[in-house]
Amino acid sequence: MPSGMAAENGLPDASCWAIDPAVAYLNHGSFGATPVPVLAQQQRLRAAMERNPVSFLVRTLPELLAAVRADVAAFLGADQDGLVFVDNATTGTQTVIAAATLGPGDEVLATDHCYPAVLAQLVRSTQAAGARLEIAPVPLPAASRTAVAEAVLSRLTEHTKLAVIDHVASCSGLVFPIAEIVAECRRQGVPVLVDGAHAPGMLPVDLGRLGPDFWTGNMHKWVCAPKASAALWVAPAWRETLRPLVASHGMADGFRPAFDWTGTRDPTALLAVPAALDFFRRAGWAAVREHNNELARQGAEVVADRLGTSPPSADGLAAAMRLVPLPVALSEDDARALERRLLDLGVVVPVTYHGGWRWLRLSAQLYNSLSDYERLADSLAAGAGGAAWSLSTA
Ligand SMILES: Cc1ncc(COP(=O)(O)O)c(C=O)c1O
Repeated sequence: MPSGMAAENGLPDASCWAIDPAVAYLNHGSFGATPVPVLAQQQRLRAAMERNPVSFLVRTLPELLAAVRADVAAFLGADQDGLVFVDNATTGTQTVIAAATLGPGDEVLATDHCYPAVLAQLVRSTQAAGARLEIAPVPLPAASRTAVAEAVLSRLTEHTKLAVIDHVASCSGLVFPIAEIVAECRRQGVPVLVDGAHAPGMLPVDLGRLGPDFWTGNMHKWVCAPKASAALWVAPAWRETLRPLVASHGMADGFRPAFDWTGTRDPTALLAVPAALDFFRRAGWAAVREHNNELARQGAEVVADRLGTSPPSADGLAAAMRLVPLPVALSEDDARALERRLLDLGVVVPVTYHGGWRWLRLSAQLYNSLSDYERLADSLAAGAGGAAWSLSTA
């Protein structure tokens, strides 16, 4: 059991993380944050590697990697043959999008919640092929799972060659009804890539049941593994052809060998994933998710009440990241200035953009408590020089 386990609810608390106690850290969503016992395990692995790098990377790594694969595959409900590791979801999504065989007249479907780097690769790939990128608007507040699924699926056509759908969107925290969307794409014979950057840890993931063509997700966000640890799972039909963006030693040896060694890197983030999984397994995933979802919900209410606005997401369409609309329109410059001003006040929170409006995106992780959101609300209401959000009119 890690030190710092909270007596109150039996869940690990802030003392298990290295987060600066002087800061209200409400942006777990961007990069994750790793518990101290998991960092210690990564440090042990690093020390072992540096004692004899050749022996570690050539001899020990394959065995360790096999154990990580078994653990992560079980956690994701995935078969091990389809599971490879990448540094992050940016690499995972781009590996798939760059490999799509597109031509003039073809279409690729994404939504207006798509992550900017993923969108950039979609633009690059479709432009290079003379294909069309169809962006489905999914307005906020989203009325229901059915309405979100319909907003996406109504844009499929006979020309759609790939659909790229977030499981949990970055700009909105919106939890897409991914099971319904994947099932209908498959029924229509449209390959689907699920961008599950935020899904592992935040939501239960069962790839065997979901059945996408491609899925990628970060272990460094809501599983709290060290940074640069992510998975890419690919359905059997694509394993013969999909290969890493960077040609590797094992390129001709099959799907998994091609991804196993993509050049020298520090593998200890990945190798510490089982320690992160153990950390949360001991606490109980269901209890962790319930805690985080409920805290994000309450935190968003506290902040919205103070701003006089209402959080948009209906139940079932949000989890541990919630939006609060700002009460006034802000320009891009004002949004960044507001982030900086809050940072100066010791509050870390992103201002996101969707549907022509700017929003505060609040994350909740075990190290947070309601007082963090109250501090944000206080800072917003009484930032130095007037209400922090009123920068545009100040
Ligand atoms: C939906 C989504 N996709 C992709 C990414 C990229 O993740 P990474 O920076 O780990 O590559 C993010 C990051 O926040 C994201 O939210």
